[in-house]
This record gives sequence, C-alpha cells and structure tokens, in this order.
Amino acid sequence: MSKSVCSQVAAVALAALAFPAVAADRDRGQSLHDNHCVLCHTTSVYTRADRLANTYLEVRQQVQRWQENTRLRWTPTDIDNVTEYIADKYYKLPQ
Ligand code: HEC
Repeated sequence: MSKSVCSQVAAVALAALAFPAVAADRDRGQSLHDNHCVLCHTTSVYTRADRLANTYLEVRQQVQRWQENTRLRWTPTDIDNVTEYIADKYYKLPQ
C-alpha cells in the first residue's frame, strides 16, 4: 500500500470516528425490511391492538429477535436501520 493510500484510509477512518452518531439509514432499512420481513406478516402486525413493542427500544428488540429467528446475521447497523424505518413509519415512535 502506498503512503498516499494509507493516509487516505486514515482520513476516512478519522472521519468515521469524528461522526460516530450517524443517523440510521432509513432507506436501507426499508429495503432490508421489504426483502426479508414481509414474507410472513403484513405490516399490520406493527399496529395491531395487542402489539408487543411500545417503545423504540422494544421495536429494536423485536427486530433483533426476528433477524435472529430468520438467521439473517444482520449487523447492529442493519438492525438500527430497520428499527428506524418501522419505528418511524408504522409505530410512530421517534428514537
Ligand atoms: C417466519 C415468519 C416471519 C418472518 C420471516 C418475520 N416475522 Fe416478524 N413476526 C412473525 C409473527 C408470526 C409475529 C407475531 C407473533 C410474535 O410476535 O411472535 C411477528 C411479529 C413481529 C414483530 C412484533 C410486532 C408487535 O409489536 O407486536 C416485529 C417488530 C416483527 N415481527 C419484525 C420482523 C422483522 C424486522 C422481520 C425481518 C427480519 C420479521 N419480523 C420477519 C413472523 C415472521
């Protein structure tokens, strides 16, 4: 690796460190969700009267549980992205 590539890599790494609290990527969350999660249930599972999740954290726990159940091996970032998407769009729960 040449020296200039190294310093570019270092710059990118520093930039990532400088902005650790990047907002979840809702668009990526939507495509992951639409590809993997609406096979079994319609989105009305998120709005039914006796729904399980009632806070942002509980929505995230359900997303975590379902990506485990379906063996998707999502990263924490993917889990955040999908949580952001369904919490905002269906649960109407801001982070
Ligand atoms: C194998 C079928 C199946 C798949 C695939 C699936 N789900 Fe579900 N999901 C269910 C069923 C059935 C329920 C309702 C019963 C329950 O909660 O155990 C549910 C409930 C939920 C709930 C709780 C709703 C509430 O608040 O009561 C969330 C959130 C959820 N699913 C998210 C997801 C996400 C995100 C994915 C994609 C990773 C996913 N599901 C994939 C079958 C599935």
